[in-house]
Amino acid sequence: MQIAIKNKILRLELGDITESAADAIVNTANSALAGGGGVDGAIHRAGGPSIMEECRKIGGCPTGSAVITGGGSLYAKHVIHTVGPVWRGGGKNEAELLASSYRNSLKLASKHNLRSVAFPSISTGAYGYPLEEAAAVAMKAVISHLSENELPEEVTFVLFGEKAFNAYEKVLKGMNL
Ligand code: APR
Repeated sequence: MQIAIKNKILRLELGDITESAADAIVNTANSALAGGGGVDGAIHRAGGPSIMEECRKIGGCPTGSAVITGGGSLYAKHVIHTVGPVWRGGGKNEAELLASSYRNSLKLASKHNLRSVAFPSISTGAYGYPLEEAAAVAMKAVISHLSENELPEEVTFVLFGEKAFNAYEKVLKGMNL
């Protein structure tokens, strides 16, 4: 599914983010940039050791922020590492921190003149954020960036499994854009 936002594109896809050929793919990192399972494990496995070498030099990234490295042997030339919030029931500023992860990732993409960015569903795996609530926050943050900035021109959510894809599709259709 894809929709136009001004002259830009927002797309939902089912798949594995490590196979994306976007200019940058976004990693669901932890604040130590230490690697892990899920998207983080898959990106470091597919991209090779140079990504972790750069992460070690950067040293860390607070929740809601983002940093950028090269893409190693991935198709994507860059990896934007962001740290989403751990879900603690919804009363611990999770929505604002999740929106901030998307906003700061997109700001970095703009700053580096990147035309296309692929996001996974940040925080909805190991960090436990409920899917539909996360989808609503994610889409709102991305749509607002696409409406107000020149770059990136294309944002794709690469969703791992029907459950995530269906949740994002339901939320996007419900936004009546
Ligand atoms: N491509 C796209 N999406 C994927 C992939 C993949 N290859 N692998 C997993 N996912 C999906 C999961 O199904 C989930 O919906 O990405 C979403 C986010 O899951 P996680 O990767 O667990 O990310 P998050 O919940 O933000 O937790 C981050 O997990 O691996 C550690 O180091 C990481 O501590 C950090 C934490």
